[in-house]
Amino acid sequence: MENRPLYIVTGASGGMGQVLTTELLRRGYRTVMACRDLKKSEPIRQRILQRCSATELELLPLDLASLDSIRQFSELLKQRDETISVLINNAGSMNDSFRLSQDGFEMTTAVNYIGTAALTLSLLPLMHSGSRIINTLSCTHRIGQVGPGWTKVDREHFARFKCYGNSKLALLLFSLELERTLRNRGIEVFAADPGVVDTGMITMHRWFDPITDLLFRPLIKSPEKGAATALKLATDETIAKDETNTPNLYWMGEKPKKISEHVLTHPYRAEIRNELFRLTGLQMPPEQ
Ligand SMILES: NC(=O)c1ccc[n+]([C@@H]2O[C@H](COP(=O)([O-])OP(=O)(O)OC[C@H]3O[C@@H](n4cnc5c(N)ncnc54)[C@H](OP(=O)(O)O)[C@@H]3O)[C@@H](O)[C@H]2O)c1
Repeated sequence: MENRPLYIVTGASGGMGQVLTTELLRRGYRTVMACRDLKKSEPIRQRILQRCSATELELLPLDLASLDSIRQFSELLKQRDETISVLINNAGSMNDSFRLSQDGFEMTTAVNYIGTAALTLSLLPLMHSGSRIINTLSCTHRIGQVGPGWTKVDREHFARFKCYGNSKLALLLFSLELERTLRNRGIEVFAADPGVVDTGMITMHRWFDPITDLLFRPLIKSPEKGAATALKLATDETIAKDETNTPNLYWMGEKPKKISEHVLTHPYRAEIRNELFRLTGLQMPPEQ
């Protein structure tokens, strides 16, 4: 059987994940839907196959709130000796109440940062020069505050937007460190910011949801528009370098965006490597 390189979409059952999966499949890429809920995701897989008149689209279990599940997912791909062309770390959550992951981390932090980083590090051995990693960011990274002990969130200190913003800032710092580490190996790292998008993510689970659905949702981006940035980063071969050969990491819409000095020189950036090792037991590769 032909073993073409894989395009992996995490959270492929969600608003933007479905668009990304559909568009990759339409373009003929061998695509894997990595989803936590197979029962919910299987009918979605069937619909995407029909829409694309395709026959091959694999659905694999992946729960980013469980380091065990991440290990099993990456072991399976390693046993099959797969090569990964593109990993789109699209899955994300913004929990409205305090919950702990299987490994004892606050859930939003676990999924958006710890699990996403752990998955990426676990899959690095299957990537090669030209492979791409696309992390999904958000403007809320600007309200994020990370520093020593920031992942230890308890019920008393939980706040929905604060945890979400913190997780996205940490993911951006991780992306910057990973890009620096992998640059000489030719593995490209990007951050895609979809803007504000009409998906389940922005539901507040409050009494005013029907009002915002009516008045606010029509004004924001469709999932197709929101997913366009990650799709471009996954499929456009001309974008990696600008004229000065500097990698453009953070993208929004069709364009790279400047990352603020505050983030680039963040005092916790250098600690990300050690922190991830402490939390997951996984090492970032040595710099080359
Ligand atoms: N919507 C926005 O305005 C916006 C803005 C900026 C950034 N983003 C980012 O864009 C990405 C896609 O979000 P979306 O707007 O498309 O939201 P969505 O429709 O809620 O999709 C989120 C996806 O993540 C999956 N997911 C959640 N927890 C998971 C876990 N523990 N393990 C594996 N998968 C998990 C969900 O799976 P289930 O289907 O099983 O729930 C779903 O497939 C996220 O990273 C989000 O932070 C969104």
